[in-house]
Amino acid sequence: MDREGKPVEDWATDYDLFDPEYVEDPKPVWKDLRERCPVAHTTRWGGSWMATRYEDVQQMVRMVPELSSRSVTVIPPSPELREELIAEAKEYGSENPPITSDPPLHKPYKQLILPFFTPKATEGYRQFTEDLCHQLIDRIIDKGECDAAADYAQQIPPRVIATILGIDPARGDDFTEWTQGVLEFGQTQPELRSKYRRIIREFFTELVAQRKKDPGDDVISTLLASEVEGEPVNEHTVVGICNLLLVAGIDTTWSSIGAALWHFAGHAEDRRRLASEPALFPTAIEEMLRFYGPVMMARKVLEPVEFGDASMCPGDKLLLNFPAANHDPEVFDRADEVVLDREQNRHVAFGIGIHRCAGSNLARMEMDVALRIWFERIPEFELSDPDAVSWAGGQVRGPRSIPVRFPT
Ligand code: HEM
Repeated sequence: MDREGKPVEDWATDYDLFDPEYVEDPKPVWKDLRERCPVAHTTRWGGSWMATRYEDVQQMVRMVPELSSRSVTVIPPSPELREELIAEAKEYGSENPPITSDPPLHKPYKQLILPFFTPKATEGYRQFTEDLCHQLIDRIIDKGECDAAADYAQQIPPRVIATILGIDPARGDDFTEWTQGVLEFGQTQPELRSKYRRIIREFFTELVAQRKKDPGDDVISTLLASEVEGEPVNEHTVVGICNLLLVAGIDTTWSSIGAALWHFAGHAEDRRRLASEPALFPTAIEEMLRFYGPVMMARKVLEPVEFGDASMCPGDKLLLNFPAANHDPEVFDRADEVVLDREQNRHVAFGIGIHRCAGSNLARMEMDVALRIWFERIPEFELSDPDAVSWAGGQVRGPRSIPVRFPT
């Protein structure tokens, strides 16, 4: 890890996920790599390979067991956390199933959680989400300005997922802090990742113990009463699943809502068009997901893999750059343009294959509600200070501050 902070000379052999210009606009780098070196390599941040073409990513998600999901974070854990994870995995199995599981155990774990996120189950939280969005807008509408990321986008997903998990939505700010601790700041500061992982696990360990004593009809009680391969799911694993469900839907969804608001604040023509043609919301949301897909995932190489010019060895990390794949001109016409009424849009923002996002119905519902209500109540808005916009990058890319102004 000795090159962090040094300028990149060649993105094909030395990419830097945290390079500020790349975080702000990765499209030129993706284009260069797709054309010149579709599976790039770096020794930065623990070292990894990175695939940027749509077809390659499609193939790689199917390369199981050579490419394993046992480690899906784009930056490896610190040596201490790694030891802890290995010891826990030996005793209890996969850390956060299903995302860290491989076949054959992946499927039964995924089946445990899918019923909580069907379109019907998700619609059950639409009213809550609508009320929440109205309350958030009530707080800002008379001011004529706000931070569309911090005051709005960021506030929604933690409260919705808390409600689904049967935990107190009023603690939304804690859940945001924990998620950022693990997934955002924890990427480059390993001590934060360990600290917040511990906080989340302790929180759910306590809740699991309570629900065990006093079961209800909530997600945790349902998981505690479930079996996988004829065995009750152990409490350590229930804590791991809850941890996953809490963090997987927070900065991902808020990044998508935020990126969309940032786009419309800076592109008046698209904003006016969506405000005057609400029938475009479904295709516009898919286009926002394609264009600003926030999530990149990793795989751990378990067996030697030759892929094009890349020779991957056991122990290597491979990044599946779903956001880059979504800009592949081989698959998408006018790939680097936002087309609000794009009809064919087979984007991979939610991943593909067996690990495809379990929360995609929920994420789409939250985006739909958040954007419709914003547009209903604040149809005219623009960036008030474009230089103050800031983005987070790495595993999840999205705007963290979007100062906007609007007529009162
Ligand atoms: C716009 C928002 C979201 C995006 C872009 C997104 C993206 C992704 C991606 C790319 C994967 C694939 C992982 C892989 O291949 O290794 C994934 C998996 C997953 N996501 Fe999401 N996600 C979003 C929201 C949510 C929400 C709201 C939840 C709800 C809790 C959620 C829960 C999960 C779970 C449980 C998995 C693991 C599925 C499996 O391993 O089979 N996600 N997500």
